[in-house]
Amino acid sequence: MIRMADRLGKVDLSDVRKMFEASGENDINLGLGEPDFDIPENVKKTVINCIENGFTHYTSNIGCIELREEISKKLRKDNSVNLDSSSIMVTTGASEALYIASQGLFNKDDEVLIPDPGFLSYRACVDLAEAKPIPIKTSFDNDYKMEYVDVQDKINSKTKGVILNSPSNPTGAVMDKENIKAICDLSIDHDFIIISDEIYEKIIYDAKHYSPAQFSENTLLINGFSKAYSMTGFRIGYMAGQTNVIDEILKVHQYNTACVSSISQTGAYEALKNSNEYVENLVKEFKRRKDLILSGLDDLGLEYSNSQGAFYVFPKIENAMDYVMRALKSGVVLVPGRGFGESSRNNIRISYANSYENIEEALDRLKTIKC
Ligand SMILES: Cc1ncc(COP(=O)(O)O)c(C=O)c1O
Repeated sequence: MIRMADRLGKVDLSDVRKMFEASGENDINLGLGEPDFDIPENVKKTVINCIENGFTHYTSNIGCIELREEISKKLRKDNSVNLDSSSIMVTTGASEALYIASQGLFNKDDEVLIPDPGFLSYRACVDLAEAKPIPIKTSFDNDYKMEYVDVQDKINSKTKGVILNSPSNPTGAVMDKENIKAICDLSIDHDFIIISDEIYEKIIYDAKHYSPAQFSENTLLINGFSKAYSMTGFRIGYMAGQTNVIDEILKVHQYNTACVSSISQTGAYEALKNSNEYVENLVKEFKRRKDLILSGLDDLGLEYSNSQGAFYVFPKIENAMDYVMRALKSGVVLVPGRGFGESSRNNIRISYANSYENIEEALDRLKTIKC
């Protein structure tokens, strides 16, 4: 038998994927982190034109200049972040950005603070860089918002980075400005990098998004087109940070993917320029579904935290894994909290990236099983 690299020993396939594979045709999937909407019409037309006009070859490794300039404008306008195109790299989704950032920045045994509960890739990317993920626990009572004091407590001479994710997957927590700013101050005082995953930035309700890059130049901002524009299959995102950091990480990107698909880059450019109304409508619809889910959870008697962004709620439940299995038997796919970190064994993640009607039906099905 072929012996695999030791570094893979710490990494497992995600529960989200396992639940998806276990589900049947008539099950309603409230497990997926993927918007169920079609992509914007203007993006469709643009990419068809792109193919017909033969813009179908390699681009520069770092990404097309037109797209990077448009991202630079967006960062200035939406995030008060002044980074020009030379500080921006286009990546194969936020996923690649997280992976190559970890490969480019972390050494063996460096400590990297990650949110717990948090998106599964953070631990895996840090592990694959042979660095050490250090969980920063957030609590139900504080609506899972990360507090700067908890970050401060874990800082030592080995601390190389902290990963922030606001709005958060899986909790929907949105960090407030004071805590973001305080963590930014720590990053300067202790000379570590903040990797800020802002992929849910636009999907936010009654709260404001702040980008750490506004307050600390020791930030690598990561964003993408999968969530706000439903362009998951385009596999496109970006990272923005200090030019020398981008230049170095570019080496990993070059030998990883060479460049992002030219077609996807054209679609992303169009999305950024002309799809504001699309995003507004998407957020409105998510809000409608969120209200439906919350009233359903009230009926089921499940406790949940205040989720101000993304498209997830993260209710507490005893025996979460058992509940998830019983929900699956009654035709509803949910994700157990355990995969998101040690502190969420008694949670489930519910995604409302499914139609209003399907969510209504799923809630009816859940009423037939005991919590
Ligand atoms: C928090 C978070 N970051 C990054 C990603 C990856 O996004 P992409 O499709 O851009 O690779 C996801 C996808 O689910 C996510 O939830």
